[in-house]
Amino acid sequence: MSNRERSQLDQLVEAVLASRSYRNISRDFIDVLGSQELVKRSSLKEAIKATKNKLHQVGGAYIEGEAHYRSWIAQLRQAGAHGDKKLLKQACMGMMGYHVSTRERLPILEQFYTTLLADLPPIRSVIDIACGLHPLAIPWMSLGQDVQYYAYDIYRDMADFLNEFMDLIQVQGGAQACDVIQHCPAFKVDLAFMLKAIPCLEQIDKNAGLRLLEAINADHLLVSFPVHSLGGRKKGMVMNYEVRFRELVEHRNWLIERFEFPTELVFRIVKRKGR
Ligand SMILES: C[S@@+](CC[C@H](N)C(=O)[O-])C[C@H]1O[C@@H](n2cnc3c(N)ncnc32)[C@H](O)[C@@H]1O
Repeated sequence: MSNRERSQLDQLVEAVLASRSYRNISRDFIDVLGSQELVKRSSLKEAIKATKNKLHQVGGAYIEGEAHYRSWIAQLRQAGAHGDKKLLKQACMGMMGYHVSTRERLPILEQFYTTLLADLPPIRSVIDIACGLHPLAIPWMSLGQDVQYYAYDIYRDMADFLNEFMDLIQVQGGAQACDVIQHCPAFKVDLAFMLKAIPCLEQIDKNAGLRLLEAINADHLLVSFPVHSLGGRKKGMVMNYEVRFRELVEHRNWLIERFEFPTELVFRIVKRKGR
């Protein structure tokens, strides 16, 4: 990259980080999106606008209202201090309502984890790709006491909050703000969640879904797709996403089970050794 291009990209990143909606997004991620847009657009101004639009599509559109992470932590501490699991779960549910992806899962929370996890061997390590607020559902997952849970999303303030939450419920591991397309965690785990992530990641890189599916080194992999658009319309989404998923896993010797919930289509994958 020439000095001029670097300087334009730096200006773009600063301009995006200066806006309220995107100030907490990982700088590296903005850097990648920004450099793609600078190549495509005829001016810096247009590239800034296009980068913000992309960030909205893949992140901002899922977040409704203002996150009050400081007061949420205080609320969770209070619930935790009473040692009352029900109170803690109630608080988590309230907070999950703030992110569209977890909010859609609220009516099926119990059923979701019982169906997908109950017959698996004990789970001691988890990665959660493009996690949103999904780690708040850990209390429903019946994971091992010594579980290590690693979560990744592009928001720094969300990662800080999730780290405090995991400390509070004494779950090891942690959340990290990063672009999973560039930095896919490939260490070995018992379980990987890739919930409603593929359509989002493929908006940035159409091969990202397949690359992640291949790179993730998990005994069990849960991959899901939404059944409604963000606007609430169904538009044959189940069929379209199923076709896309089957294309991605074609010719792979993976064991795949399908689960359809009222708000989510899930595939559970076991990658068998050998092809
Ligand atoms: C549809 S939501 C799914 C959230 C969560 N997995 C769930 O199902 O509850 C997609 C999430 O991906 C995150 N995201 C988008 N692009 C990403 C990237 N390149 N790396 C990491 N996270 C990303 C967004 O911020 C958003 O929280």
